[in-house]
Amino acid sequence: MIQQPPTLFPEITNTVRGRFYIVAGIISVVMAVASIAIFWWIFYTITPAPAPPLQNPIYVNYTQEPTDYISAESLAAMNAYIQANPQPQAVQVLKGMTTAQISAYMVAQVSGGLKVDCSYCHNIANFAQQDGYPNAAKKVTARKMMLMSADLNQNYTAKLPASVGGYQITCATCHNGKAAGLEPYPIEIMNTLPNDWRLPLELDYPGGLVVTGRKDVSNHEVEQNQFAMYHMNVSMGQGCTFCHNARYFPSYEIAQKNHSIIMLQMTKHIQETYVAPGGRIADGIMAGKSPSCWLCHQGANIPPGAAKPGQVPAVLSSTP
Ligand code: HEC
Ligand code: HEC
Ligand code: HEC
Ligand code: HEC
Repeated sequence: MIQQPPTLFPEITNTVRGRFYIVAGIISVVMAVASIAIFWWIFYTITPAPAPPLQNPIYVNYTQEPTDYISAESLAAMNAYIQANPQPQAVQVLKGMTTAQISAYMVAQVSGGLKVDCSYCHNIANFAQQDGYPNAAKKVTARKMMLMSADLNQNYTAKLPASVGGYQITCATCHNGKAAGLEPYPIEIMNTLPNDWRLPLELDYPGGLVVTGRKDVSNHEVEQNQFAMYHMNVSMGQGCTFCHNARYFPSYEIAQKNHSIIMLQMTKHIQETYVAPGGRIADGIMAGKSPSCWLCHQGANIPPGAAKPGQVPAVLSSTP
């Protein structure tokens, strides 16, 4: 007599029904494993490896790419112009640069900052032409904007210590990829503030928003302080302690409070000199848009559209 090897669970394996369950179980496990394996095999075959995080060489956290807003025609005209004129023919601001250097700045920061074609400001048949073509007025405004950027860098960001990073104001710092329709006070930062509230840029800084220990201070002044502090918090994406020792708000022991005073002075200067020179908005170059901390900061302590040190032309920089 042949000895059957002892089986595990004879009451299951020795019946037809039991064997059926075992075979069915094995088949379904194999099929499940195979389909998962095939899914991942296809997934890895068709999905490209994730791109490394974009580190733009020029900007803090803004990309001018893809540059498809610049037409092939404009790029061809640019290359022909560089060949024909290695030195620029009619620059008033960008002095000491070759035509190739100016063109690189135009691509990355002027067209790149506003996301517009060269023809937004130029007659591309002659980049040096100053007037007598449809968009000549834009070139005039753009030149004033270059001078404004230089003024802001040289007289305000230059006062911030090197430890902040030496970042520079350039076209994208305010424009963030839009030529017009800029919104210094969009709904997402106004949130709980009255819609017509603006930074009180008629006040003097430091001192304009000081309220502590003053018996003469009105409710309106207290409210202005609170609204301005809220505006700064949201614009910078920070809490009160980014700038303050929250146990004693009047003190200046945190450097960012001093940096903010310089920034308040700069914002006031933009308002008085470029939005409403002599109190007349119609004379300004910024379409009457009163600047805010948000205009540049966009919820970050360093504006995403700021240029890294050494990227803006020396004549426009605080660190020539
Ligand atoms: C927002 C307006 C604007 C845009 C867009 C623009 N430029 Fe300019 N460009 C200017 C201004 C203003 C000047 C004069 C700067 C000066 O006076 O120093 C200038 C000067 C130049 C010059 C020097 C011309 C000379 O010989 O005097 C070149 C070359 C040039 N731009 C190329 C380009 C190219 C290429 C593009 C597109 C990639 C472009 N620009 C986009 C405003 C613009
Ligand atoms: C301090 C902020 C700021 C900076 C820096 C700045 N701009 Fe402007 N610019 C503005 C504002 C605000 C307007 C008005 C936009 C609007 O109509 O909403 C404007 C308008 C313009 C316009 C007119 C656009 C149109 O079609 O009406 C041009 C051209 C322009 N800027 C070019 C530049 C260039 C080039 C640079 C860099 C050299 C620059 N700007 C830097 C704030 C700025
Ligand atoms: C980005 C920096 C910044 C942030 C964030 C900020 N503050 Fe301020 N705060 C300042 C500056 C600068 C002044 C001084 C303004 C002046 O001199 O007119 C000031 C002044 C004050 C004062 C008046 C101090 C005095 O001397 O009377 C109070 C109170 C105050 N802040 C509270 C707050 C509160 C509460 C928050 C958070 C909701 C806050 N701040 C967030 C920069 C900041
Ligand atoms: C025209 C653009 C612009 C406007 C408007 C602006 N800032 Fe700035 N801010 C900058 C740039 C660019 C830097 C970085 C400068 C550097 O690296 O030296 C900066 C840096 C700062 C810093 C230093 C951050 C740190 O980590 O120490 C503070 C604080 C600051 N801004 C506060 C403000 C406040 C408050 C306002 C509104 C009253 C304001 N800024 C408005 C462009 C702007």
